[in-house]
Amino acid sequence: MKIINYSEITPENIYKNRRSFIKKLGFGASSLAISTFPFLNNAIANNRDELTSYKDITTYNNYYEFGTSKSDPHRNSKNFKTQPWNISIEGEVDKPINLSMEEISEIFVSEERVYRLRCVEGWSMVIPWMGFSLSKLLSKVNPTSKAKFVEFESIYDPDQMKGQRYPVLNWPYKEGLRIDEAMHPLTTVVTGLYGKKLPNQNGAPLRIFIPWKYGFKSAKAIVKIKFVQKMPMSSWMWASPREYGFYSNVNPNVDHPRWSQATERIIGEGIWAPRVKTLMFNGYGDQVANLYSGMDLKKYF
Ligand code: MTE
Repeated sequence: MKIINYSEITPENIYKNRRSFIKKLGFGASSLAISTFPFLNNAIANNRDELTSYKDITTYNNYYEFGTSKSDPHRNSKNFKTQPWNISIEGEVDKPINLSMEEISEIFVSEERVYRLRCVEGWSMVIPWMGFSLSKLLSKVNPTSKAKFVEFESIYDPDQMKGQRYPVLNWPYKEGLRIDEAMHPLTTVVTGLYGKKLPNQNGAPLRIFIPWKYGFKSAKAIVKIKFVQKMPMSSWMWASPREYGFYSNVNPNVDHPRWSQATERIIGEGIWAPRVKTLMFNGYGDQVANLYSGMDLKKYF
């Protein structure tokens, strides 16, 4: 029998072993979802439960600050400095606050949350994130009655981020949510993945993740969260308003002007594997559809 050196056990081994152990115990998919990954798990409900490998999650990225090809962020973000790091919560609030990353990790406990990331480009991954609900962080301030939306701002540092020396996007990267979307328990502050610290290419030290929206809504390396009165203009809306709307909910019935959104390619299955059907709200509709009742989602794309 081979003695396994601890260093050979990747986070992926640990996760996969634990999952198959739970399956062997005879728990069904739903009890696994409830007992182990409370925030899962439509990924499991439709048999697309395989976690994407750590390697794919950390080498196939979108992070234009570090370059526009998928392998650029992994290659170019190695020396990105994420310490010290502060996040301010400001705008339409009674009293703005500024928290260091150390304070954030002391105050908020990160837990495992397995969610599917569906990119607007038509591919998806199932990622075991570590994080906590954004609502907990936002509850540290008192928004004024004028506050209607929340804007997220990524770091601006062209010395460290070569991509920001070119006008590929309107820097710094900005995104936004309606307050009720931001306060939804699925909206997550991400601090890690596969039980480890968040890698730079995935948005260290802290990014957000909104499971039912296209991946670009999930801004990386956040330094500012601002409560605002008017719907914020995101970097992608600036770049191409016809193609990228404010809501950007995953919706197989509303195509991107240049391609269909009805199906997706699962990263890790190879390019010849059959594409699978994209689910409304990325499969999280039972939890979030009520946020949009009465809205024409073709108009508010
Ligand atoms: N955040 C910043 N600051 N810059 C970016 O270019 N890309 C977005 C989003 N967040 C991006 C970003 C896009 S298009 C996607 S699909 C996801 O990050 C990708 O996250 P991942 O690389 O961790 O899979």
